[in-house]
Amino acid sequence: MSETSTDLFEIMRTTRSMRRLKPDAVPAALLNQVLEAGTFAANGGNMQSWRFLVIRDPAIKAAAGAWYTKAWHEVVGPRYRSGGPAPGTTPERFARMLAAAEHLADHLHEAPVWIVPCLAGPRGAGGSIFPAVQNMLLAARAVGLGTTLTTLYLIHEKEAEAAMGIPDDYHSYAILPVGFPMGRFGPVRRAPLENVVFEDHWGRAWSAT
Ligand SMILES: Cc1cc2nc3c(=O)[nH]c(=O)nc-3n(C[C@H](O)[C@H](O)[C@H](O)COP(=O)(O)O)c2cc1C
Repeated sequence: MSETSTDLFEIMRTTRSMRRLKPDAVPAALLNQVLEAGTFAANGGNMQSWRFLVIRDPAIKAAAGAWYTKAWHEVVGPRYRSGGPAPGTTPERFARMLAAAEHLADHLHEAPVWIVPCLAGPRGAGGSIFPAVQNMLLAARAVGLGTTLTTLYLIHEKEAEAAMGIPDDYHSYAILPVGFPMGRFGPVRRAPLENVVFEDHWGRAWSAT
């Protein structure tokens, strides 16, 4: 699996969540490519009411990351551990994913850079920010950077946003910890189309013809 790619379909197929990151600094040129890709995204009325907070300050990452760590250990980790594996995956892979998620929870603040996508106004569904988030996930993978879409810190939304200095008239929708990945990009694991695509009638599997 190549570390960088310009083939969109290969990029989409191999953009796994990369939860183990090297501490090495991320060159600003790569970061700019990722951020610019974010601003290419569809957004309501093209109002671009997004703001992207780039956090490299270790003290801010430590203060905000502590809320993520707390949410993982007290709420989200125990919830996942008490359930079964996701569709299209095996118990072994699920266990590996949980171990990686726990690693991220304990090391989030060590990611060299965070991108925090924000939107103006009261918290909503995020329709005008998640396209930008997905563009940035794909762009990061294209240039060989790993990241993960994380939201579980929102369990402690007020505290984490205060630690990041986000003003009251904006809300964050994710923290993307970005860095060079320790592991390799690889194929995403998903259920096959026939399980999730219906044809004409709800429940009738897509025939792919
Ligand atoms: C809305 C949303 C929130 C997510 N929040 C987190 C999170 O807080 N922590 C985390 O480790 N992964 C988070 N993820 C990543 C998913 O767990 C991941 O995409 C999924 O397990 C599929 O794995 P893959 O991305 O490696 O293919 C989130 C993904 C989405 C779409």
